[in-house]
Amino acid sequence: MGRAGAAAMIPGLALLWAAVLGDATPSPPRLRLSFQELQARHGLRIFRLERTCCYEALLVDEERGRLFVGAENHVASLSLDNISKQAKKLAWPAPVEWREECNWAGKDIGTECMNFVKLLHTYNRTHLLACGTGAFHPTCAFVEVGHRLEEPVLRLDLRRLEDGKGKSPYDPRHRAASVLVGEELYSGVAADLMGRDFTIFRSLGQRPSLRTEPHDSRWLNEPKFVKVFWIPESENPDDDKIYFFFRESAVEAAPALGRLSVSRVGQICRNDVGGQRSLVNKWTTFLKARLVCSVPGAEGDTHFDQLQDVFLLSLRDRWSPLLYTVFTTSSTIFQGSAVCVYSMNDVRRAFLGPFAHKEGPMHQWVSYQGRVPYPRPGMCPSKTFGTFSSTKDFPDDVIQFARNHPLMYNSVLPMGGRPLFLQVGAGYTFTQITADRVAAADGHYDVLFIGTDVGTVLKVISVPKGSRPNAEGLLLEELHVFEDSAAITSMQISSKRHQLYVASRSAVAQIPLHRCAAHGRACAECCLARDPYCAWDGATCTRFQPSAKRRFRRQDVKNGDPSTLCSGDSAHPTLLERKVFGVEGGSAFLECEPRSLQARVEWTFQRAGEAARTTVAAEERAERLPRGLLLRGLRRGDSGVYLCAAVEQGFSQPLRRLALHVLGAAQAERLARTEEAAPVAPPGPKLWYRDFLQLVEPGGGGAGSLRMCRQQPESRPPAPESRRKGRNRRRNAPEPRAERGPRSAAHW
Ligand SMILES: *[C@@H]1O[C@H](CO)[C@@H](O)[C@H](O)[C@H]1NC(C)=O
Ligand SMILES: *[C@@H]1O[C@H](CO)[C@@H](O)[C@H](O)[C@H]1NC(C)=O
Repeated sequence: MGRAGAAAMIPGLALLWAAVLGDATPSPPRLRLSFQELQARHGLRIFRLERTCCYEALLVDEERGRLFVGAENHVASLSLDNISKQAKKLAWPAPVEWREECNWAGKDIGTECMNFVKLLHTYNRTHLLACGTGAFHPTCAFVEVGHRLEEPVLRLDLRRLEDGKGKSPYDPRHRAASVLVGEELYSGVAADLMGRDFTIFRSLGQRPSLRTEPHDSRWLNEPKFVKVFWIPESENPDDDKIYFFFRESAVEAAPALGRLSVSRVGQICRNDVGGQRSLVNKWTTFLKARLVCSVPGAEGDTHFDQLQDVFLLSLRDRWSPLLYTVFTTSSTIFQGSAVCVYSMNDVRRAFLGPFAHKEGPMHQWVSYQGRVPYPRPGMCPSKTFGTFSSTKDFPDDVIQFARNHPLMYNSVLPMGGRPLFLQVGAGYTFTQITADRVAAADGHYDVLFIGTDVGTVLKVISVPKGSRPNAEGLLLEELHVFEDSAAITSMQISSKRHQLYVASRSAVAQIPLHRCAAHGRACAECCLARDPYCAWDGATCTRFQPSAKRRFRRQDVKNGDPSTLCSGDSAHPTLLERKVFGVEGGSAFLECEPRSLQARVEWTFQRAGEAARTTVAAEERAERLPRGLLLRGLRRGDSGVYLCAAVEQGFSQPLRRLALHVLGAAQAERLARTEEAAPVAPPGPKLWYRDFLQLVEPGGGGAGSLRMCRQQPESRPPAPESRRKGRNRRRNAPEPRAERGPRSAAHW
């Protein structure tokens, strides 16, 4: 059986083969930027309300230039250009009676019996629809935000409160998944206090409400809804469908395997109005299929079974957007996260394939081989496909078949048949994803921003690998956008303003999509960064403008090969030789730290008076540290020129040239005495560099600037400019990096 046909073959966790994931240690991002560095240098802005938690609903309104935010007891309206200025807020607490009832029902008054605003949608030209948990009493309201060009307003319309049941969850821990189409809200939510009656629900608008069959595990089996999208299929609105993304317990799994989690895509027709005699006010076009995100292996697939988020990337062909998703695993054996990409055509194909069928309680789930009634369940009543103008006209056998066969037999597989990007054992998992399609010099690239459960954002690009649609993800940046490490709950992008908005329990952050200067000051560094937003303009790494003259813009996202692109520029025009002094028997620290965490440092040595260069091998006397090379037990013969180079993608970039002079003890003393201002501190007993005596000639100036620095016990080694630049960034740097090839992404 192929991987696509699998309704009856849900495997157990035994299929999580370590062999499949092999050497899955996550590779480091190229750049890791701390909260402090992002705030000081890269335009990170933070918004937070006093004594308010749980920022969850984000709504980008490009026309008004506002970011609307839903949080505990509040709705806020922020400027998209700078979320820290001109913030307007609106208090929307739950009434005291509801909070008391909530408390009587056994919920915590301080943490649960509040109004957690879970959803925000643009309702009409002047109002938003907002819904919150209302202290376990879901409620919706219209929020006036003014006309487009007016001064921003933010007012709650208390005359028209709506029942929020079936729209917002009751429980603050649950997520809301909904989409507003016209005046109608489609939501996937638990519609009862106990959180057991899960439903796909249509409400508001003029038509009667519609829902899924209650308490039928074939339809929904303890689902957790993730996202809902309205995706038209043609010019004819009668073909419009709403797609629900969720995870649930697999009803099709063999009972012996226990409770198994599966991820799903479900569909319904927008023009569904329910059945006439049965399925009255219930969906007649509901179908669901399994979404598979797994790594194929000879002995079985490794499944990422828990869908966490979906981002719909609209393309020029507006009927066929791409679905970027993040998954985690429910496995107790390993912790992993993956990004899988699906095409809408593959989703639609699954709904046109065979239905899953179970004859009776003692039977297996199989592919239904009998006659499928006409019109085929799942098809919308439409002139495109037939003569039925309403689901109320559907023949009884169609309705009966639809009720009993909501599950498709075939699964939906990701593009390329495997995850685009994955991490195993990273110490965190993915929670959110958003994507931006960027025009670069050599084509289009999708840039993914992945939120994690430790408050970081990973910036990953999808680059073609072999033949299309195969692609792999390259991890460019790890951004610590919050001061704390609360999980990211929501992310929104403004392509127009080139900004990313990120929410967590504790705050909302805003960060530009690119920070080209952070990649470095050399052409090769800019090129190796492979950031489609950035290019080398002859002098600096700056924002790439597709329209600008190409001659001056150098960028190679596909290969990241600087050897041809940057050949005109000397890789490092200002690589001056610096002098370092050491004392015989003592030690010397040769500092060199590449900006890229993916680069490997290579040291070569040219003995004084000799022409030959040799590679400095790691040995007891020459220890490689994250910031440089420590030479111990110095000998006269160690004098010479040490050249440090960063090797990445097979490209070697010289970073520093250090001339070491090893002096005899008497010689050193004489030298030291000639320096008046040199602070000579008593050696600290604990530090490895206590016997470290270094004389540095700053900036390669004349002998007059010769200065002696005896290491202060509590301070770090002296910090020339390259160190200062990287200090914040390295705060979270891993221990001395193991030698590894210039591999830049997890791929299999
Ligand atoms: C954003 O607004 C805050 C508050 O007015 C201000 O301090 C900050 O400089 C602004 N940042 C930018 C980049 O405009
Ligand atoms: C938008 O909807 C609100 C709430 O129903 C209503 O009060 C308002 O008049 C509507 N505005 C427009 C421009 O239709």
